[in-house]
Amino acid sequence: MNHNKNNKLFDVREKIIIITGGSGNLGSIYAEHLVNEGALVYNLDIKDPKKNKTSSAKNYNFLQADLTKRNAIKIALEEVVKTSGIPDALINNAALDSPPGDQAIINGRFEDYPEDAWDDVIEVNLKSIFLCCQVIGASMSKNNNGGSIVNISSHYGIVSPDQRIYSYRKQEFNKPISYATSKSGVLNLTRYLSTYWGSKNIRVNTLTLGGVFDGQDEQFVNNYSSKVPLGRMATKEEYCGAIQFLISSASSYMTGANLILDGGWTAW
Ligand SMILES: NC(=O)c1ccc[n+]([C@@H]2O[C@H](COP(=O)([O-])OP(=O)(O)OC[C@H]3O[C@@H](n4cnc5c(N)ncnc54)[C@H](O)[C@@H]3O)[C@@H](O)[C@H]2O)c1
Repeated sequence: MNHNKNNKLFDVREKIIIITGGSGNLGSIYAEHLVNEGALVYNLDIKDPKKNKTSSAKNYNFLQADLTKRNAIKIALEEVVKTSGIPDALINNAALDSPPGDQAIINGRFEDYPEDAWDDVIEVNLKSIFLCCQVIGASMSKNNNGGSIVNISSHYGIVSPDQRIYSYRKQEFNKPISYATSKSGVLNLTRYLSTYWGSKNIRVNTLTLGGVFDGQDEQFVNNYSSKVPLGRMATKEEYCGAIQFLISSASSYMTGANLILDGGWTAW
Protein backbone atom coordinates (compact mmCIF):
# COMPACT_ATOMS: atom_id res chain seq x y z
CA MET A 1 0.00 0.00 0.00
CA ASN A 2 1.35 3.42 -0.88
CA HIS A 3 -1.07 5.59 1.12
CA ASN A 4 0.18 8.90 2.37
CA LYS A 5 0.32 8.85 6.17
CA ASN A 6 0.59 12.66 6.43
CA ASN A 7 -2.46 13.38 4.36
CA LYS A 8 -5.27 13.07 6.97
CA LEU A 9 -7.66 15.33 5.10
CA PHE A 10 -7.90 12.90 2.22
CA ASP A 11 -7.43 9.79 4.34
CA VAL A 12 -9.60 6.83 3.28
CA ARG A 13 -7.66 4.14 5.15
CA GLU A 14 -9.93 1.43 6.51
CA LYS A 15 -13.03 3.13 5.20
CA ILE A 16 -15.52 0.53 4.03
CA ILE A 17 -16.41 1.54 0.49
CA ILE A 18 -18.96 0.00 -1.85
CA ILE A 19 -18.44 0.80 -5.49
CA THR A 20 -20.98 -0.32 -8.06
CA GLY A 21 -19.80 -1.22 -11.56
CA GLY A 22 -16.27 -1.66 -10.24
CA SER A 23 -15.46 -4.21 -12.96
CA GLY A 24 -15.83 -1.58 -15.68
CA ASN A 25 -13.41 0.82 -17.33
CA LEU A 26 -13.45 3.55 -14.72
CA GLY A 27 -14.78 1.65 -11.70
CA SER A 28 -11.81 -0.71 -11.83
CA ILE A 29 -9.43 2.27 -11.78
CA TYR A 30 -11.24 3.81 -8.77
CA ALA A 31 -11.19 0.43 -7.01
CA GLU A 32 -7.46 0.06 -7.63
CA HIS A 33 -6.78 3.59 -6.39
CA LEU A 34 -8.86 3.16 -3.21
CA VAL A 35 -7.32 -0.25 -2.49
CA ASN A 36 -3.87 1.34 -2.79
CA GLU A 37 -4.98 4.10 -0.40
CA GLY A 38 -5.85 1.47 2.21
CA ALA A 39 -9.66 1.43 1.95
CA LEU A 40 -11.72 -1.76 2.23
CA VAL A 41 -13.28 -1.92 -1.20
CA TYR A 42 -16.34 -3.93 -2.21
CA ASN A 43 -17.08 -4.06 -5.93
CA LEU A 44 -20.74 -4.86 -6.66
CA ASP A 45 -21.06 -5.67 -10.35
CA ILE A 46 -23.03 -8.01 -12.58
CA LYS A 47 -19.83 -9.10 -14.31
CA ASP A 48 -16.53 -10.43 -12.93
CA PRO A 49 -13.58 -8.09 -12.71
CA LYS A 50 -10.43 -8.80 -14.71
CA LYS A 51 -7.89 -10.73 -12.67
CA ASN A 52 -5.10 -8.34 -11.72
CA LYS A 53 -3.15 -7.09 -8.71
CA THR A 54 -6.20 -5.35 -7.26
CA SER A 55 -8.49 -8.36 -7.51
CA SER A 56 -6.12 -10.39 -5.36
CA ALA A 57 -5.55 -7.63 -2.77
CA LYS A 58 -6.58 -8.42 0.82
CA ASN A 59 -8.68 -5.26 1.06
CA TYR A 60 -10.64 -5.88 -2.16
CA ASN A 61 -13.77 -7.99 -2.58
CA PHE A 62 -16.01 -8.70 -5.53
CA LEU A 63 -19.70 -9.46 -4.96
CA GLN A 64 -21.72 -10.38 -8.00
CA ALA A 65 -25.07 -8.57 -8.07
CA ASP A 66 -27.60 -7.35 -10.58
CA LEU A 67 -28.19 -3.92 -9.08
CA THR A 68 -31.59 -3.53 -10.70
CA LYS A 69 -32.79 -6.16 -8.21
CA ARG A 70 -33.40 -5.05 -4.63
CA ASN A 71 -32.82 -8.52 -3.22
CA ALA A 72 -29.41 -8.84 -4.87
CA ILE A 73 -28.35 -5.54 -3.25
CA LYS A 74 -29.66 -6.69 0.14
CA ILE A 75 -27.71 -9.95 -0.06
CA ALA A 76 -24.52 -8.12 -1.06
CA LEU A 77 -24.93 -5.58 1.75
CA GLU A 78 -25.45 -8.36 4.31
CA GLU A 79 -22.15 -9.86 3.19
CA VAL A 80 -20.34 -6.50 3.54
CA VAL A 81 -21.81 -5.89 7.01
CA LYS A 82 -21.00 -9.42 8.15
CA THR A 83 -17.38 -9.34 6.99
CA SER A 84 -16.44 -5.67 7.57
CA GLY A 85 -19.30 -3.60 9.00
CA ILE A 86 -21.66 -0.87 7.82
CA PRO A 87 -20.21 0.94 4.81
CA ASP A 88 -18.77 4.45 5.14
CA ALA A 89 -19.23 5.25 1.48
CA LEU A 90 -21.21 4.21 -1.56
CA ILE A 91 -20.10 5.11 -5.08
CA ASN A 92 -22.97 4.65 -7.53
CA ASN A 93 -20.93 4.20 -10.69
CA ALA A 94 -22.61 1.32 -12.60
CA ALA A 95 -24.36 2.42 -15.78
CA LEU A 96 -25.25 1.50 -19.33
CA ASP A 97 -23.98 3.74 -22.07
CA SER A 98 -23.97 3.73 -25.82
CA PRO A 99 -20.48 4.31 -27.13
CA PRO A 100 -19.97 5.72 -30.66
CA GLY A 101 -20.84 3.04 -33.20
CA ASP A 102 -22.83 0.89 -30.75
CA GLN A 103 -24.28 -1.92 -32.86
CA ALA A 104 -27.28 -2.25 -30.55
CA ILE A 105 -28.61 0.99 -31.94
CA ILE A 106 -28.61 0.45 -35.65
CA ASN A 107 -30.57 3.48 -36.59
CA GLY A 108 -29.66 6.28 -34.24
CA ARG A 109 -32.64 8.52 -34.94
CA PHE A 110 -34.58 9.57 -31.85
CA GLU A 111 -37.83 8.61 -33.58
CA ASP A 112 -36.64 5.00 -33.84
CA TYR A 113 -34.93 4.63 -30.48
CA PRO A 114 -36.22 1.31 -29.10
CA GLU A 115 -38.48 1.42 -26.07
CA ASP A 116 -36.75 -1.58 -24.48
CA ALA A 117 -33.35 0.15 -24.81
CA TRP A 118 -34.86 3.15 -22.99
CA ASP A 119 -36.16 0.86 -20.23
CA ASP A 120 -32.83 -0.96 -19.84
CA VAL A 121 -30.83 2.26 -19.50
CA ILE A 122 -33.26 3.88 -17.06
CA GLU A 123 -33.33 0.66 -14.99
CA VAL A 124 -29.58 0.58 -14.54
CA ASN A 125 -28.70 4.29 -14.59
CA LEU A 126 -31.48 5.53 -12.32
CA LYS A 127 -33.41 2.72 -10.67
CA SER A 128 -30.30 0.90 -9.48
CA ILE A 129 -29.08 4.10 -7.80
CA PHE A 130 -32.49 4.53 -6.17
CA LEU A 131 -32.35 0.93 -4.94
CA CYS A 132 -28.73 1.09 -3.76
CA CYS A 133 -29.52 4.27 -1.83
CA GLN A 134 -32.67 2.73 -0.37
CA VAL A 135 -30.88 -0.40 0.80
CA ILE A 136 -27.25 0.64 1.41
CA GLY A 137 -27.88 4.33 2.16
CA ALA A 138 -30.56 3.37 4.67
CA SER A 139 -28.08 1.15 6.49
CA MET A 140 -25.48 3.95 6.50
CA SER A 141 -28.05 6.42 7.84
CA LYS A 142 -28.71 4.23 10.89
CA ASN A 143 -25.02 4.26 11.71
CA ASN A 144 -24.00 7.23 13.83
CA ASN A 145 -20.78 7.73 11.87
CA GLY A 146 -22.33 9.54 8.90
CA GLY A 147 -21.12 8.64 5.45
CA SER A 148 -20.72 9.70 1.85
CA ILE A 149 -22.66 8.75 -1.26
CA VAL A 150 -21.21 9.67 -4.65
CA ASN A 151 -23.49 9.44 -7.67
CA ILE A 152 -21.76 9.44 -11.04
CA SER A 153 -23.24 11.59 -13.77
CA SER A 154 -21.98 12.89 -17.09
CA HIS A 155 -21.67 16.27 -18.83
CA TYR A 156 -24.51 14.83 -20.98
CA GLY A 157 -26.66 15.06 -17.85
CA ILE A 158 -26.13 18.84 -17.78
CA VAL A 159 -26.29 19.71 -21.47
CA SER A 160 -27.57 17.74 -24.42
CA PRO A 161 -25.04 15.63 -26.30
CA ASP A 162 -23.81 17.47 -29.37
CA GLN A 163 -24.82 14.95 -32.02
CA ARG A 164 -22.61 16.70 -34.62
CA ILE A 165 -19.48 15.08 -33.15
CA TYR A 166 -20.89 11.65 -34.02
CA SER A 167 -22.26 12.52 -37.47
CA TYR A 168 -19.03 11.77 -39.41
CA ARG A 169 -19.84 8.06 -39.18
CA LYS A 170 -21.39 6.36 -42.20
CA GLN A 171 -24.04 4.75 -40.05
CA GLU A 172 -26.38 7.21 -38.40
CA PHE A 173 -25.70 7.36 -34.68
CA ASN A 174 -27.00 9.61 -31.97
CA LYS A 175 -25.99 9.53 -28.34
CA PRO A 176 -29.26 8.16 -26.99
CA ILE A 177 -31.81 10.18 -25.11
CA SER A 178 -32.02 7.57 -22.34
CA TYR A 179 -28.40 8.12 -21.32
CA ALA A 180 -28.70 11.90 -21.21
CA THR A 181 -32.05 11.80 -19.40
CA SER A 182 -30.91 9.28 -16.81
CA LYS A 183 -27.73 11.23 -16.09
CA SER A 184 -29.67 14.43 -15.48
CA GLY A 185 -32.02 12.49 -13.18
CA VAL A 186 -28.97 11.67 -11.05
CA LEU A 187 -28.51 15.38 -10.26
CA ASN A 188 -31.85 15.78 -8.52
CA LEU A 189 -31.81 12.33 -6.95
CA THR A 190 -28.60 13.56 -5.31
CA ARG A 191 -30.15 16.84 -4.14
CA TYR A 192 -33.23 15.08 -2.80
CA LEU A 193 -31.24 12.60 -0.71
CA SER A 194 -28.74 15.21 0.50
CA THR A 195 -31.58 17.12 2.14
CA TYR A 196 -33.27 13.95 3.34
CA TRP A 197 -30.15 12.57 5.06
CA GLY A 198 -28.44 15.86 6.00
CA SER A 199 -29.36 15.49 9.67
CA LYS A 200 -27.73 12.04 9.69
CA ASN A 201 -24.51 13.48 8.24
CA ILE A 202 -24.85 11.31 5.16
CA ARG A 203 -23.42 13.53 2.47
CA VAL A 204 -24.73 12.92 -1.04
CA ASN A 205 -23.00 14.48 -4.02
CA THR A 206 -22.87 14.08 -7.78
CA LEU A 207 -19.60 13.68 -9.62
CA THR A 208 -20.05 14.75 -13.23
CA LEU A 209 -17.51 13.42 -15.69
CA GLY A 210 -16.53 14.21 -19.24
CA GLY A 211 -15.54 11.66 -21.89
CA VAL A 212 -12.55 9.40 -21.32
CA PHE A 213 -10.11 8.31 -24.01
CA ASP A 214 -10.51 4.59 -24.51
CA GLY A 215 -9.13 3.85 -27.97
CA GLN A 216 -11.86 5.71 -29.90
CA ASP A 217 -11.02 6.48 -33.54
CA GLU A 218 -8.99 9.57 -34.37
CA GLN A 219 -11.86 11.45 -36.01
CA PHE A 220 -14.04 11.03 -32.96
CA VAL A 221 -11.25 12.06 -30.59
CA ASN A 222 -10.61 15.20 -32.68
CA ASN A 223 -14.31 16.07 -32.88
CA TYR A 224 -14.73 15.54 -29.15
CA SER A 225 -11.56 17.43 -28.20
CA SER A 226 -12.57 20.47 -30.25
CA LYS A 227 -15.48 20.93 -27.82
CA VAL A 228 -13.26 20.84 -24.72
CA PRO A 229 -11.46 23.98 -23.51
CA LEU A 230 -8.60 21.77 -22.27
CA GLY A 231 -8.46 20.37 -25.81
CA ARG A 232 -8.50 16.66 -25.03
CA MET A 233 -10.44 13.75 -23.58
CA ALA A 234 -9.79 12.69 -19.97
CA THR A 235 -7.51 9.84 -19.02
CA LYS A 236 -8.98 7.02 -16.92
CA GLU A 237 -6.92 8.05 -13.90
CA GLU A 238 -7.98 11.70 -13.78
CA TYR A 239 -11.13 11.17 -11.69
CA CYS A 240 -9.52 9.30 -8.78
CA GLY A 241 -8.63 12.51 -6.93
CA ALA A 242 -12.23 13.73 -7.03
CA ILE A 243 -13.55 10.35 -5.86
CA GLN A 244 -11.15 10.37 -2.92
CA PHE A 245 -12.02 13.98 -2.09
CA LEU A 246 -15.75 13.23 -2.02
CA ILE A 247 -15.47 10.22 0.28
CA SER A 248 -12.88 11.71 2.63
CA SER A 249 -13.22 14.37 5.31
CA ALA A 250 -11.71 16.88 2.86
CA SER A 251 -15.29 17.38 1.59
CA SER A 252 -16.97 17.29 5.04
CA TYR A 253 -19.09 20.41 4.39
CA MET A 254 -20.14 19.42 0.90
CA THR A 255 -23.52 17.88 0.20
CA GLY A 256 -26.17 18.18 -2.50
CA ALA A 257 -23.51 19.48 -4.85
CA ASN A 258 -22.28 18.62 -8.29
CA LEU A 259 -18.54 18.42 -8.82
CA ILE A 260 -17.87 18.78 -12.54
CA LEU A 261 -14.72 17.38 -14.15
CA ASP A 262 -15.34 17.76 -17.86
CA GLY A 263 -12.28 19.62 -19.13
CA GLY A 264 -14.52 22.69 -19.39
CA TRP A 265 -17.07 21.18 -21.85
CA THR A 266 -20.00 22.86 -20.06
CA ALA A 267 -18.18 26.18 -19.58
CA TRP A 268 -18.91 27.62 -23.03
N1 LIG B 1 -16.30 6.47 -19.79
C1 LIG B 1 -16.67 7.73 -20.00
O1 LIG B 1 -16.20 8.39 -20.93
C2 LIG B 1 -17.69 8.37 -19.08
C3 LIG B 1 -18.01 9.73 -19.23
C4 LIG B 1 -18.92 10.32 -18.39
C5 LIG B 1 -19.53 9.55 -17.38
N2 LIG B 1 -19.20 8.24 -17.27
C6 LIG B 1 -19.87 7.46 -16.24
O2 LIG B 1 -18.90 6.78 -15.46
C7 LIG B 1 -19.46 5.55 -15.01
C8 LIG B 1 -18.55 4.39 -15.38
O3 LIG B 1 -18.37 4.37 -16.78
P1 LIG B 1 -17.45 3.29 -17.51
O4 LIG B 1 -16.96 3.93 -18.75
O5 LIG B 1 -16.49 2.70 -16.55
O6 LIG B 1 -18.56 2.20 -17.93
P2 LIG B 1 -18.38 0.61 -18.11
O7 LIG B 1 -19.46 0.20 -19.04
O8 LIG B 1 -16.97 0.27 -18.45
O9 LIG B 1 -18.69 0.06 -16.64
C9 LIG B 1 -19.99 0.00 -16.13
C10 LIG B 1 -20.06 -1.19 -15.20
O10 LIG B 1 -21.42 -1.26 -14.72
C11 LIG B 1 -21.76 -2.64 -14.66
N3 LIG B 1 -23.22 -2.83 -14.72
C12 LIG B 1 -24.06 -2.56 -15.75
N4 LIG B 1 -25.30 -2.97 -15.44
C13 LIG B 1 -25.26 -3.50 -14.20
C14 LIG B 1 -26.22 -4.10 -13.35
N5 LIG B 1 -27.51 -4.25 -13.72
N6 LIG B 1 -25.83 -4.55 -12.14
C15 LIG B 1 -24.52 -4.43 -11.76
N7 LIG B 1 -23.56 -3.88 -12.52
C16 LIG B 1 -23.93 -3.42 -13.74
C17 LIG B 1 -21.08 -3.27 -15.88
O11 LIG B 1 -20.96 -4.68 -15.74
C18 LIG B 1 -19.76 -2.53 -15.90
O12 LIG B 1 -18.74 -3.23 -15.20
C19 LIG B 1 -20.86 5.45 -15.59
O13 LIG B 1 -21.80 5.94 -14.66
C20 LIG B 1 -20.77 6.38 -16.78
O14 LIG B 1 -22.03 6.87 -17.19
C21 LIG B 1 -18.30 7.62 -18.09
